[in-house]
Parts: sequence; C-alpha cells; structure tokens
Amino acid sequence: QVVRLEKPVDGHAAINWDKPFAGKRALVTGASRGIGLAIAQVLARDGAHVVCVDVPQAQEALQQAATSVGGSALPLDITAADTVSLLQTHVSQYGAFDVVVHNAGITRDKTIAKMTEGAWRSVLAVNLEAPWQLSEALLDSQGLNPGGRIVCVSSISGIAGNLGQSNYATSKAGVIGLVQGLAPRAAARQVTVNAVAPGFIETQMTAKIPLMIREAGRRMNSLSQGGQPIDVAETIAWLAHPASGGVNGQVVRVCGQSLLGA
Ligand SMILES: NC(=O)c1ccc[n+]([C@@H]2O[C@H](COP(=O)([O-])OP(=O)(O)OC[C@H]3O[C@@H](n4cnc5c(N)ncnc54)[C@H](O)[C@@H]3O)[C@@H](O)[C@H]2O)c1
Repeated sequence: QVVRLEKPVDGHAAINWDKPFAGKRALVTGASRGIGLAIAQVLARDGAHVVCVDVPQAQEALQQAATSVGGSALPLDITAADTVSLLQTHVSQYGAFDVVVHNAGITRDKTIAKMTEGAWRSVLAVNLEAPWQLSEALLDSQGLNPGGRIVCVSSISGIAGNLGQSNYATSKAGVIGLVQGLAPRAAARQVTVNAVAPGFIETQMTAKIPLMIREAGRRMNSLSQGGQPIDVAETIAWLAHPASGGVNGQVVRVCGQSLLGA
C-alpha cells in the first residue's frame, strides 16, 4: 500500500522519542474494550493523558479502562444531541486535545433486502456522523492544539464492501471521504486527519460473527489468523506521533495483507 508524504503541517518541535505523547492530552472514543482500549493503553504507555469515552451503559468497564491507563473516564454517547457541547465544556475546563481518535463503532449486519431503516441510520450515526460532527466542532472551537492529530477508524469493508454490511461499508467508506475532505482544512490549523482501515481483528465485535464466516475472515490474511487490537493501536500511535505531521488525508490498512479490497 502507498502512504503519501507531504511537507509537515506543523513546525519542527523537539520530539521526546521515548515518550512522544508526554504532556499531551488524547481523546479516545469506544475506549472501554477491544481496539479502543488498546489505543488508550498504547497512547498512555507513550506518555499521553487519555480521556476515555464510551456509552454510559459501559460506565463500569470505562472507569476500569481509564484507571488502568492513568487517564480519565468521560461517559457519553457520541451520537447524543448534547455531545458537542459537553465536549466543548470539557475542553474549556481541562484544555484542548492533542490527539483525537474516533474509534467507537457498531455493526448491524443484514443483507440489503432485510436491512431496516433503524439499522442503517444507527450505523451511519455512530460510525460516520459523530466523527464528522465532533471533528468539525473541535477544529472550529480550538479544541485541538496546533500539531494536533485526528485519527479515524475505517475498515477494509469501507474500501471493498462486504456481503451483509452495506450500512457498515457505507459508513466506513464515508470515513475515508471524511479524512480526505477534512485534511486540507485541518492542515491550515496545523492538524492532520488520517484513518486506519483494519481487516479482521479479534475483539468482541468480531466474536459475534458466525463461526464459518469468522474463520474465513481470519484466513484471508497472510498469516491465516485474526489481527490483534494492538496492531491497530500501534498504527494509530504512528499516525498520531508528533513526527507524523507529513502524513495527512491518508488511509493505512492494518489487515495482514488481507485479500479483501486489495
Ligand atoms: N474488530 C474488527 O475486526 C474491526 C475491523 C475493522 C474496523 N473495526 C472498527 O474498529 C473500531 C473498534 O472496534 P472493536 O472491534 O474494538 O469493537 P467493540 O464492539 O469491541 O468496541 C466498540 C466500542 O465502541 C463503543 N461505542 C459504540 N457506540 C458508541 C457510542 N454511540 N458512543 C460511545 N461509544 C460507543 C462500544 O460501547 C464499545 O466499547 C470500530 O469502529 C470498528 O468498526 C473493527
């Protein structure tokens, strides 16, 4: 795959190579488990104070996750009408973010003939509309510091499509359009916007997939096994790194050379 590099959007600040996120504040949505928890762990390991977001129903797991990474828990449903204003209040109290990772996502799989309007709308709302609105709001209200990084989580489904996932694939394709569309505007504020596109990763989301389809998902990659959340988290940490200011509007697959969409 190709990752295009440009002139960095930000200046050449001194980089702490051991703890690149030291003194920085990161926001990770869907952080109570799975890939989001791994992202929070990696960013915290590398020095960030991580604000962990997840739905209020997951509050207990969210608090545990936040405590385990020495960060803070912010229970909120990213699709709720008051989320933007809650986040802006949070920023005015605690300061702007340096890294924002839009990881929260849902699936509501059905073939298109059986897809309900609710299943379509909820997937688009969580996976695409919320990252879009929150990114716009944070960029417009100085919620991201110069040198800031937005990283979205797409999927190889968003590149290739996938049977039974027309809603999910649409949302994740939209995420790719979102990072490409936002990148020039974000660059003007010295912020980058990129996405990762994971293949099959072993989490509670993929544990719900019927066994045979799950096994097929694993075998599509070169190692014939599912990826691990940390594979995605380390790639996100690279995109979020202070030295990655020359990577903007890019989509990086984390799929172990999966055939889907390659
Ligand atoms: N697991 C995979 O194979 C895979 C592959 C490609 C992309 N992804 C994407 O990676 C991301 C994480 O997936 P995962 O496998 O860790 O899933 P997961 O279901 O284990 O975790 C998702 C988290 O997002 C939270 N969440 C859902 N709706 C929310 C909302 N409205 N507000 C706040 N939080 C919300 C959930 O409560 C959950 O904690 C998702 O965007 C998913 O689409 C996963």
